[in-house]
Amino acid sequence: MTALCLRDIFALLILFALHARSASLNISGEAVTTRFWDCCKPSCGWKEKAPFDRPVLSCSIDDKPTDIEAGTGCNGGSAYLCSNQQPWAINDTFSYGFAGVFIMPGLTGGKIEDAWCCACYRMDFTSDPLRGKTMIVQASNTAYDINTANRFSLAVPGGNTTSHDACARQYGVDQTVFGTDNTGVSSKDDCKKLPEALQKGCQWRFDWYEDAGFPT
Ligand SMILES: *[C@@H]1O[C@H](CO)[C@@H](O)[C@H](O)[C@H]1NC(C)=O
Ligand SMILES: *[C@@H]1O[C@H](CO)[C@@H](O)[C@H](O)[C@H]1NC(C)=O
Ligand SMILES: *[C@@H]1O[C@H](CO)[C@@H](O)[C@H](O)[C@H]1NC(C)=O
Repeated sequence: MTALCLRDIFALLILFALHARSASLNISGEAVTTRFWDCCKPSCGWKEKAPFDRPVLSCSIDDKPTDIEAGTGCNGGSAYLCSNQQPWAINDTFSYGFAGVFIMPGLTGGKIEDAWCCACYRMDFTSDPLRGKTMIVQASNTAYDINTANRFSLAVPGGNTTSHDACARQYGVDQTVFGTDNTGVSSKDDCKKLPEALQKGCQWRFDWYEDAGFPT
């Protein structure tokens, strides 16, 4: 999927743009960001969710790709978020990552997640401390829970947690290592408590991302 992203980076808009493979949308606008890491199978991981070549892969509790048909670990199934969906920095001003996306119907022409699943977006941060930094994300998930603004919920391990305990089941740890609801872990030191495969992405939040709160 990274290859798909890279090929499409060359068709970018000034603010953010999406590639024209799964939908013929080429849009830009303002957006807000949040963070998530719920360990659930990503919404764009379901078959026929969008006209894509292949849904987003989900992983077993061994962090190996599962059958596309496997149900979500957040509802009794065996498919969880793969650890390789965490963000990584290329340099001080540029990172890659994955996001749960919601785009207002006014921009999509009324379309919903089939229009953005697997699309890539360039985000130019416009608020401090991230102003001047850029990130390219692939929409691997959908963020329908808040639908009053364009939103990119960045997949950051330990970046947020909600009431269910899928992360605990996936990694066989206590859910509390993933931090508290709506905040996640509270310091870079706490990243050391996460499963090893997730620690780098957790640290990214305190380094490159400067633990920014809801940057635009
Ligand atoms: C998207 O729209 C912009 C601005 O209208 C244009 O410059 C760009 O070529 C378009 N890209 C694609 C892939 O259609
Ligand atoms: C955590 O997720 C919830 C639910 O999507 C959201 O309301 C909240 O703003 C998120 N917190 C952060 C810091 O992104
Ligand atoms: C950071 O990496 C991006 C992507 O490779 C590149 O376009 C940019 O010039 C780099 N910036 C610096 C300061 O090296």
